[in-house]
Amino acid sequence: MAVPFVQDWDIVQTLGEGTYGEVRLLVNRQTEEAVAVKVIDTLQAKECAENVKKEICVHKMLSHCNIVRFFGHRKEGTTVFLFLEYCTGGELFDRIEPDVGMDEKDAHRFFQQLIAAVEYLHKIGITHRDIKPENILLDDKDNIKLTDFGLATMFRFKGRERPMNRLCGTLPYVAPELLSQTHYKAQPADIWSCGIVLTAMLAGELPWDQPAEACQEYSDWLNKKTYLSPWKKIKPMPLCLLSKLLLTKPEARITIADIRKDRWFTEGVKQPLASSGSGATKHRSDVEVTSQTSSDDKVQISSSQPDIALGGWEALLLIGQSDGQVSFSQPTKPEHMLLGSQLLGTPGASQTPWQRLVRRMTRFFTSVNADTSLASLKGACDTLALCYKLTCSNQVTVSTMDKRNNKLIFKVHLLDMNQKVLLDFRLSKGDGLEFKRLFLKIKQKLCDIVCTQKITFPGT
Ligand code: ADE
Repeated sequence: MAVPFVQDWDIVQTLGEGTYGEVRLLVNRQTEEAVAVKVIDTLQAKECAENVKKEICVHKMLSHCNIVRFFGHRKEGTTVFLFLEYCTGGELFDRIEPDVGMDEKDAHRFFQQLIAAVEYLHKIGITHRDIKPENILLDDKDNIKLTDFGLATMFRFKGRERPMNRLCGTLPYVAPELLSQTHYKAQPADIWSCGIVLTAMLAGELPWDQPAEACQEYSDWLNKKTYLSPWKKIKPMPLCLLSKLLLTKPEARITIADIRKDRWFTEGVKQPLASSGSGATKHRSDVEVTSQTSSDDKVQISSSQPDIALGGWEALLLIGQSDGQVSFSQPTKPEHMLLGSQLLGTPGASQTPWQRLVRRMTRFFTSVNADTSLASLKGACDTLALCYKLTCSNQVTVSTMDKRNNKLIFKVHLLDMNQKVLLDFRLSKGDGLEFKRLFLKIKQKLCDIVCTQKITFPGT
């Protein structure tokens, strides 16, 4: 979909797909500032226009370092554009290794920031109602930015709290009282979802499909069977916090004030005695970006997961720097943001070109041409019994049911780039962790054609 009124802005790439539309990256041709634009077609569902109005109304009043900034909105016919802070770190769910999770130290820091965001919302009387890793983005410094206020609402006004009655959110993340009661309190329900996010970060899996006693995993949790997965993967201190976050009775569930007093929350991970080296703990899925500008004017990217580094290369090419030269400057001039009075201003913070490349792990390059890549991809789908169809010449839509019998739909874009073909996988519908598990299976099936070579290219 075109963004007709945006002059001098290049639509660089699609960042993600939401319930009502896509989020795209816009980069200003002159100033090279970057913003994310959420494009919503309000004709999609009858309640959509009303929901978007509310989303704008809520999001524009928010100002917190762990919440995505809202710059403004614009309407063109039935399409609404929301201009948002661009988060180069990608989605939190991309940092979660399926069935493993992430380093406890990282999970601890992310959880503290998530709680800071939720605490701020609750203080001003707003509830998010759809807290999950897909709605948690990261900036260039790995700070959490909560986003998607499409289901958010006011639960307190002038000191008076109103109960919620709408059953909304995402089933594995919803609190049990939403399923068992007609009315529920807003704050404990958000806190429950934070507990599920913490479980996903520490164990790389969601504990249950839904918190109903008919669900075996939930009933095992109620029976304190913490020798089972995912709980057995979690250390006693964070598990103790989880047992307070995931208490069935909302009135017994821990409050944010008490989360702040929890031992794991305050003390975090005990640092193992440092061996040699700098002592800095590396991300399990970290990318090392080493600038070597002093010696040979090259920026070298090396990675334990080469697809991330190559993903950066791909983003550069998409941006149009086909000669490999990076020429972004700092986004500093808000007056160039030109999108009219509805735009509130742009981030003053500086971004380097590398920081501007959104970090995604669900992509890789192949060492064969597009036709062979497509044939191999189809072959992998056949062996894994996945339904697929060619939705356009370079895009395959794959659909299946996950192990919980939920629909899982994703798209694979095949981008031909001279000698290499990029296979870019993007979730359209379903559970992010299940998507990633399946991505890894497909990648494994294609291991013969996955390109693992390191690349270097000119620096800034
Ligand atoms: N995906 C969805 N929203 C985004 C944003 N604001 N920045 C980066 N990626 C996103």
